[in-house]
Amino acid sequence: MISLKSSREIELMRRAGRITAQARTLAGKLVRPGVTTLEIDTQVRKFIEGQGAVPSFLNYNGYPGSACISVNEIVIHGIPDHRVLKEGDIVSVDVGAFIDGVHGDCAATFPCGQVSEEAMALIQVTEQSFWEGIKLARAGNRVYDISHAVQQYVEAHGCSVVRDFVGHGVGHKLHEAPEVPNFGPAGHGPRLQPGMTLAVEPMVCAGDWHVRVLKDGWTTVTADGSLAAHYENTILITEGVPEILTVTGE
Ligand code: MF3
Ligand code: CO
Repeated sequence: MISLKSSREIELMRRAGRITAQARTLAGKLVRPGVTTLEIDTQVRKFIEGQGAVPSFLNYNGYPGSACISVNEIVIHGIPDHRVLKEGDIVSVDVGAFIDGVHGDCAATFPCGQVSEEAMALIQVTEQSFWEGIKLARAGNRVYDISHAVQQYVEAHGCSVVRDFVGHGVGHKLHEAPEVPNFGPAGHGPRLQPGMTLAVEPMVCAGDWHVRVLKDGWTTVTADGSLAAHYENTILITEGVPEILTVTGE
């Protein structure tokens, strides 16, 4: 069952989304050589809590952090720890905030100091693939129209999309129907309707798309050790262009 949000619920999701986006921006500003991923996580948690919200990921299925901080070949679900960021790293930060019964969910990959041209290109392809995908995210189209557009753009730029993890509906629960893959045939999947709220989140590898999960049960790395990047926003489907709910409002 795909829920359609009421105007009241949408108003609440705008607020959750704003806090989430602000937490992402804060995290991005903290990415620099010498900082630990745990320090970033702590700042994110304090910010979200200071806004009267709860970090969506903290204790979710036992996840120990407020953010997922995924460095270099770590694609997603990197657990914040005492790892010290160094010049040239690329750092994906995924955050969620829950307030008044609804979640926001967003992510971005940030360069740590000066990074390689290949790394910067990967970051840009990943973010642009999101925007290419949501060009198709309007009422009357189907979920896989988004998926297909993301995949086409990523592969046209020599990168690959992760198959084992997908975007999702988001609202009262962090993960709701429908699944929003970053691959697949256009014209398939549920029809998009105004009031659907989706987390569209391309996870992109510079090399092959196969990933594996480390023994901690979370940390997901590229199987070939190539770099990976992530970009995500929570969006609202409308009759026209979708509304991005994870915006800072600045
Ligand atoms: N954006 C990710 C997702 O949609 C973050 C989840 S991390 C978890 O799944 F810890 F909450 F699982
Ligand atoms: Co998500």
